[in-house]
Amino acid sequence: MAVASTSPLSAKPATAPSPPAPGSGLLALGVRRAPATAAWRRLRVEAIRTQRTEVPVEESAPARDAAAAAPLDGNGAGADGSVVPSSDDSWVVKLEQSFNIFATDSVIMVLKGVYGDRYYARFFALETIARVPYFAFISVLHLYATFGWWRRADYIKVHFAQSWNEFHHLLIMEELGGDSLWFDCFLARFMAFFYYFMTVAMYMLSPRMAYHFSECVERHAYSTYDEFLKLHEEELKRLPAPEAALNYYMNEDLYLFDEFQASRTPGSRRPKIDNLYDVFVNIREDEAEHCKTMKTCQTHGNLRSPHSTPNCLEDDTECVIPENDCEGVVVYKV
Ligand SMILES: [Fe+2]
Ligand SMILES: [Fe+2]
Repeated sequence: MAVASTSPLSAKPATAPSPPAPGSGLLALGVRRAPATAAWRRLRVEAIRTQRTEVPVEESAPARDAAAAAPLDGNGAGADGSVVPSSDDSWVVKLEQSFNIFATDSVIMVLKGVYGDRYYARFFALETIARVPYFAFISVLHLYATFGWWRRADYIKVHFAQSWNEFHHLLIMEELGGDSLWFDCFLARFMAFFYYFMTVAMYMLSPRMAYHFSECVERHAYSTYDEFLKLHEEELKRLPAPEAALNYYMNEDLYLFDEFQASRTPGSRRPKIDNLYDVFVNIREDEAEHCKTMKTCQTHGNLRSPHSTPNCLEDDTECVIPENDCEGVVVYKV
């Protein structure tokens, strides 16, 4: 069994020789590729880096929804970044939100107590749990589509892209050693198992409530990474980026990366990854985008795939999935 190191930023022992981290012996990233493949991968990443430097992405691409595209601010959040119930909704909404906030605060307390400053193990648990709701939403939507109750391709596409993004966060945490201890894996997966069924039930009863719950989780993830970046900026800047991060963020095909950011125009965000600090900055930004998408989803029928265009919806009937607006047991209106 692997032994946890005393350093908060320590990673699992590398299974193959890895390049020493410049200026620090704290982190040794596992190299899981053949040397030739790794070299080829580095060349490709360098080429993409150069391309992104020469052709800056549309920094000011028009946002699809100005409110949603704003940086993650205090909208609905307390001074410490926690979510507070909105004041202009009905008592049912307030009740749902209060339950969600209580539940997320309780889980956060448990995670902080169990993991303390073992950051990568805590992030591993967080990312294992973070993927679950998107999988749960897709499961329920598939069920509704099968019964012909409700059919919207955009929701399934965006939620899959969200789970794909969280999956890569998880791969990064694994590469950093977050899954080194059996107990950490067990606890994270144990919580994820029950979280899945809870989310399915909640989503069937009230998608608005389930989406708000995920918004709380994503907001917590954002503030966790933000705090981590502020505490360890200098150290992280001296450490190399994991392969999983390079594969995901520096890939030529970023269709799914664009797809989960429902408030952004495709191509408007192209990360540049030079070190571990850049990786965590982008993970934090991803969490902010998840948060905005979850907020958008709390209004029934509000979600659109970033790749769906007005022309496509209006002119090309091939693009349109017939929509049956029956909501099944979905409760949106109170
Ligand atoms: Fe994540
Ligand atoms: Fe997340």
